[in-house]
Amino acid sequence: MNNGKTEGIMEKTELTARLEQARQYERQHQTAAQERPAFHVTAPVGWINDPNGFSLFQGEYHLFYQYHPYSSLWGPMHWGHCKTKDFIRWTWLPCALAPDEAYDGQGCFSGSAVEQDGKHLLMYTGVREREKEDGTKEVFQTQCMAVGDGTDYVKLQENPVILADSLPEGSSAADFRDPKIWREDGRFYAVIGSLDGDGSGQIALFSSADGTGWSFESILDRNQGRYGKMWECPDFFTLDSRQVLIVSPQFMRAEGLEFHNGNNSIYFVGSYEKEKKCFLRKEARQIDYGLDFYAPQTLETADGRRIMIAWMKSWDNDLTPEGAGWSGMMTVPRELRLDGERLIQNPVRELETYRRNEVRHAVRLTREDGEKALDGISGRVLDMTVELKAGDYEVFQIALAADSDSRTLLVYDRKRATLTTDRTWSGLRKDQVCVRSAAVREREGKLKLRIVMDRFSAEVFVNDGETAMSTVIHTDQKAQGIFFSCDGTAEISVVKYDLEAEGLTF
Ligand code: FRU
Repeated sequence: MNNGKTEGIMEKTELTARLEQARQYERQHQTAAQERPAFHVTAPVGWINDPNGFSLFQGEYHLFYQYHPYSSLWGPMHWGHCKTKDFIRWTWLPCALAPDEAYDGQGCFSGSAVEQDGKHLLMYTGVREREKEDGTKEVFQTQCMAVGDGTDYVKLQENPVILADSLPEGSSAADFRDPKIWREDGRFYAVIGSLDGDGSGQIALFSSADGTGWSFESILDRNQGRYGKMWECPDFFTLDSRQVLIVSPQFMRAEGLEFHNGNNSIYFVGSYEKEKKCFLRKEARQIDYGLDFYAPQTLETADGRRIMIAWMKSWDNDLTPEGAGWSGMMTVPRELRLDGERLIQNPVRELETYRRNEVRHAVRLTREDGEKALDGISGRVLDMTVELKAGDYEVFQIALAADSDSRTLLVYDRKRATLTTDRTWSGLRKDQVCVRSAAVREREGKLKLRIVMDRFSAEVFVNDGETAMSTVIHTDQKAQGIFFSCDGTAEISVVKYDLEAEGLTF
């Protein structure tokens, strides 16, 4: 490890022109706070995608992200940076990495971070284009590292530290990315997404004694033609004594209500055979059944909780309104646990300390009520739990972010046992995917929906985290209405809190 070099990382002279330019740009072009979500991470300006380097460093939680400050479109990837003590109140830090070396000049792609001897170690994918003999260009991806103090980072002289050459024969050099690093028993390990010779995804496991010299250990898992093609953004961790592998496959085919077409984020629960360095698992499940969720990454907190954060957007849907200063945000960080083979996810408990103005209702709704508003139940930055307790209804609907022009619907169809998000009337000007359903089940005749909203999104957690659905809503903030309706009778309870919004994020 090139520790000597970290001494100089605070010095301005160490900053490359491209990084300095990005830092200056983000300082000068910050989007106004009111135009951004209150507590979901966005960039100061420009485009973001995957969460990167989500890690505990010197008592604070750091989050980096794929970042193109100069426009609301994807471009040469930088790493943006912010940190938090409680996952809700975030502080921006200066842009951490710029694509400014020969080995990463086409982009600093996704990666992760770990704390080592008081230093913050980043591992990321360097993207480079090279000219072939016939004059055409080919992209290749390698793994690189940087070390820093929580604000400034220096790329290692040894970069790139892993080349695709060390993968099994036939593996692609163009699709080899998104290392997730961790430390275990005094060694560093990393799982990295890779594309097999037959065009299917595989996860490569590497290890290192010092964080610089890496060796290939095994192919931990491969998709054998199932679950899409390239597996992006792997994460591999122990949860409740089981082993979990998270991957984000490209080019999946829809299967029932479980998977949709294109990019999905899925998980496998299984066991890790340490001797053979392979992962034994069964079927995959979707992580989030909403319209906007991709590339999740997790960390372990100081008190032992596994927290996941994801990009709340998808590659296929671009909802960013013209003229918006920012594009893309993260989900609310979620606490994970397992219930058998099922991943349970709920907003971090810290969110509850931001609850204000409790409003409670217990009502009997009938078809004749039409769309019913309840006193004090409205808003766009809130935490609301609706329990459907009894009744003879077949369809129950909640309209969120509603006014005379727009609304985002949550529809529970009891016969089909589905919950559907529908944002057809949510201010879109392109014919994009607006409807997605998930299978849900009543528990003792009840369905519980926790809905967390933050200006431009609604995240729904069903039955205490059994199913999650995340959806971006880019409508006018004046659309604050919430309406309940059903086609029979329904006994419901509603508990709603505003979430403190002012001065929260950045
Ligand atoms: C996933 C992804 C990663 C890559 C990054 C590039 O969304 O495609 O595989 O590292 O985005 O921005």
